[in-house]
Amino acid sequence: MDVGIVRALGSPEGKELLRSLPPYDPAAVFALQDRLRREGHAADFVAAVLTQQRLRARAVAKFGDFAGDLLYTPDGLEQASRLEVAATHAGRFYNASLATVHDLGCGIGSDAVAMSALGVTVQAVDIDPVTAAIADTNLRPWPDSRAHEGYAEEFEPPRDPLRSRVGVWLDPARRIPGKTGRHGRIKRVFRLDEIRPSWQFVLQVATAVPATGAKLSPSMPHDAIPLGTEAQWTSYGGEVLECAVWWGPLAQRPGRSARILAAGRPPVEVDETMAEPDPPTAEGTGSIGAWLYEPDRAVTQAGLLGAVTGATLGVEVDTGLGYVLSDAEVDLPYARRYAVLESMPFTVKTLRAWLAQHDVTGLTVKKRGVRLDDDELRRQLKIGRGAGDGAQATVVLTRVAGQQTAIVVEPVVPAAG
Ligand SMILES: C[S@@+](CC[C@H](N)C(=O)[O-])C[C@H]1O[C@@H](n2cnc3c(N)ncnc32)[C@H](O)[C@@H]1O
Repeated sequence: MDVGIVRALGSPEGKELLRSLPPYDPAAVFALQDRLRREGHAADFVAAVLTQQRLRARAVAKFGDFAGDLLYTPDGLEQASRLEVAATHAGRFYNASLATVHDLGCGIGSDAVAMSALGVTVQAVDIDPVTAAIADTNLRPWPDSRAHEGYAEEFEPPRDPLRSRVGVWLDPARRIPGKTGRHGRIKRVFRLDEIRPSWQFVLQVATAVPATGAKLSPSMPHDAIPLGTEAQWTSYGGEVLECAVWWGPLAQRPGRSARILAAGRPPVEVDETMAEPDPPTAEGTGSIGAWLYEPDRAVTQAGLLGAVTGATLGVEVDTGLGYVLSDAEVDLPYARRYAVLESMPFTVKTLRAWLAQHDVTGLTVKKRGVRLDDDELRRQLKIGRGAGDGAQATVVLTRVAGQQTAIVVEPVVPAAG
């Protein structure tokens, strides 16, 4: 696809054609292609239309009903912030009363669209000309917001950004363009020094413009978080999507926080004020407790397990494993609770005997801190996932105070996920 094709797709005729297409059906692609060619559309335009139809179907998972309003590139869709998360980013800029935000590396413009929808004007750039043209088309409902091809590094901060109510948003690429991994997908990068624009540049911008926000990998090292900022880990449906760092007026409360999002539930936030600084472990307690709590991963990645141990008066099974054991029955919107039915030192033999004794034929296995191949374990236990004729059980294989332990549990309260 080139910039000319993006313009054609974004023209009133192009939009009308996209709107008129039937829902994406892989079996009907060739027939549709034939029809569009017969109607006189050029081959490269038809190819682009069909790509948009396919990507729009995929985009529903991220953008719901709005998926049909946007144009995409495959890569741009993969990297785009999902609707609820983009809305959270936009809310920070809106709440800080910013008039203009420079989005430096805007992708297809998911974040830029969310900000514009809240009335914040966005000036966006992307290094890739087609991606920038797509973002510009996606921003068309807000004529003051524009995107163009350009280098983030060419950004010139205004002299008095706070007085002129200017902020900056950076969502650096965490993949290497043109480089594919083993499965043919674009190679992802995980280290802070590999992102583009660079972390160094992000820090430079944040020094010049107090209202700066940046979206980074959830594996953001805690010791890299700049002093005085808020680093917020966000999960959606139990999957941790990002760690966003907020400077100046965009930081609600400096320190680490977690935001838990799930379909149909209000957001839940956890911060350092809610967490014990050094969560105790099961070392020396000698008992398993009646309940096992599994904190949302955003909570554990933000280093806020102490919120769960504090609220339940519980202990972590072993340092760094993230499960909490307690005798207290507490409903927490940021942790899943399981009733402990039984626990035993874990060996394949003891667990197999327990399963046979209880006529269990379907097993859900959760593991942390125990290295095991799932399929191999099931083969040794002679058990599948579905219950079949017998009972279904859930077992947590973990280390409790250094000992490999099997804890048979029953899920009680689903966390937001
Ligand atoms: C993660 S994506 C942004 C996604 C966007 N926030 C959204 O929600 O749609 C990062 C983008 O940065 C762009 N990029 C990478 N290096 C850049 C640079 N030096 N200057 C401008 N854009 C850059 C990439 O082309 C990519 O589209």
